[in-house]
Amino acid sequence: METPNKFKILCIESTCDETAAAVITENREVLGSVVASQDDLHEQFNGVVPEIAARAHVQRIIPVIDQTLKNAELQLNDLDAIAVCNTPGLSGSLLVGVVAAKSLALACGLPLIAINHLHAHVYACQLESTEPVFPCVGMIVSGGHTHLYQYQNALTAQYLGGTIDDAAGEAFDKVASMLGLPYPGGPAVSQKAANGDPKAFDFPRSFIHDKNLDFSFSGLKTAVRYAIAGPGEVDFKTLEISEQKICDVSASFQQAVVDCLVKKAIAATKQTGLKTICVGGGVAANSSFREQLRQACDQNQLTLHIAPLKYCTDNAVMGAIAIERYKAGLFESLELDIQPGLIRH
Ligand SMILES: Nc1ncnc2c1ncn2[C@@H]1O[C@H](COP(=O)(O)OP(=O)(O)OP(=O)(O)O)[C@@H](O)[C@H]1O
Ligand SMILES: [Mg+2]
Repeated sequence: METPNKFKILCIESTCDETAAAVITENREVLGSVVASQDDLHEQFNGVVPEIAARAHVQRIIPVIDQTLKNAELQLNDLDAIAVCNTPGLSGSLLVGVVAAKSLALACGLPLIAINHLHAHVYACQLESTEPVFPCVGMIVSGGHTHLYQYQNALTAQYLGGTIDDAAGEAFDKVASMLGLPYPGGPAVSQKAANGDPKAFDFPRSFIHDKNLDFSFSGLKTAVRYAIAGPGEVDFKTLEISEQKICDVSASFQQAVVDCLVKKAIAATKQTGLKTICVGGGVAANSSFREQLRQACDQNQLTLHIAPLKYCTDNAVMGAIAIERYKAGLFESLELDIQPGLIRH
């Protein structure tokens, strides 16, 4: 429903393998939102293929924007700004969204806003919260990142720590692939874990006793590999694993990841003195993680905001962080570039 006299921003998301657009108002009302997933295109490869992702964005970006405006019952000339994620992500994917956004900004004479995808994941916590969620410790647990930040406000954050190798979501995807479960692996592993014993395997929890706020999931992934198949060459496609073992490995792996995430999130609040945690990204959809982090926050008298389930994985609604940039007058020139690599700011 349209709100009169409130500014409206078209947000565009194309950092990885979802083509998404949304129209958001100044007071975070979602007037339209479309997400075109590419899971079906990447499933057979058990991970995102950058070339395929970029070409699918090229096909879909304009129809997705068009459908979003139709859902919102708006025309381009009803908008007040165009926002786009320009960092971090896959180069080819980012380029498609950024070029679409710049073209629209030029054609419509609208200001252009740059969105940091990671901070947008954390901002998803603000979407349905009536109270301000910042300042906070912000945690991104996604397919490409596992990072902790200290946020003074939505736009000002310092990096506290993060994974030195695989991201949590990536580990879920790789473990799922070894267990013969479908891509993306997070939901599948989580489903099997519900019928497994989290203590069946004593998997490593890297850095859990260290003071740093870093993570490492590659040793855990290797331990899972040995638990499934032992040493030596193995063809996972033909490997036969009993249903009970799939469930037990899933539960034990998931518990190891959750232990690390919960421990470091709480440690980040102790280190910074902050009393609020905000969590976003695909792995934040994991029910065990949500439950165990909530319990730990209750025990430590901390306030916890986890992104609503529908805004954990990639979407354009979390681009609502652009509202903050609009209010602060932070606009970009039409020379806006992409910044694909892992960033720590
Ligand atoms: N219930 C779940 N449990 C665990 N992991 C999950 C669950 N649901 C989704 N995931 C994982 O979330 C990841 C996708 O999340 P998201 O879309 O935020 O990542 P991304 O956008 O690819 O990465 P980034 O945001 O770092 O660029 C996948 O790795 C997927 O397996
Ligand atoms: Mg993401």
